[in-house]
Amino acid sequence: MAYRFGITPYTPHTSKKVKKAGWSDTYLTPLPLIKALGPFDLDPACPPEMPWRTARRMFHFPKQDGLILPWRGRVWLNPPFSKMKAFAQKMIEHGSGVILLNGRATETRASQLCFEASSAVLLMSKRIRFCDRKGEELGAWFPSILVGFGSEDRDRLYDLSILKRDEFGGTVFKRL
Ligand SMILES: C[S@@+](CC[C@H](N)C(=O)[O-])C[C@H]1O[C@@H](n2cnc3c(N)ncnc32)[C@H](O)[C@@H]1O
Repeated sequence: MAYRFGITPYTPHTSKKVKKAGWSDTYLTPLPLIKALGPFDLDPACPPEMPWRTARRMFHFPKQDGLILPWRGRVWLNPPFSKMKAFAQKMIEHGSGVILLNGRATETRASQLCFEASSAVLLMSKRIRFCDRKGEELGAWFPSILVGFGSEDRDRLYDLSILKRDEFGGTVFKRL
């Protein structure tokens, strides 16, 4: 599979389970992170079915295309690798919510555009353990970066890093 932004899908930490399953666009955000950061009005990039809710409204691909449908409110975005730049651009235009980025791909155009437009950037000190479509843990293949847009999300990322330091802490850079 080709990755447009040069993201390396496997790391030495990749579990056997993930290798067996193969890499896909679907690696679910664990519920504790959603609960700690939420509530969100919209998650525009979801598989057809999910074991839990990430937002009040969810766009389930392919029936609902998050790149075409309008976005409203505070958005949670864990974008599919295959459409990273298009989703990042739509998030920047929207300007409210949080996008999850791969900490091993900080040089990509998508990441750089997000950093430029952000109100806060949280470099997480622990890797997120993503889940499969059934909610079972897959692995923690790469370090994550949470990027907030707008003043509300700037404050929320800062609070998250302090209040949930053990699980979701890290270093936060804020725009003043
Ligand atoms: C990394 S997963 C994130 C799932 C979920 N949003 C979460 O945070 O747990 C990205 C999902 O986006 C879906 N997707 C791909 N293209 C999409 C599109 N154009 N519109 C909406 N979702 C899409 C993929 O099928 C994949 O399941």
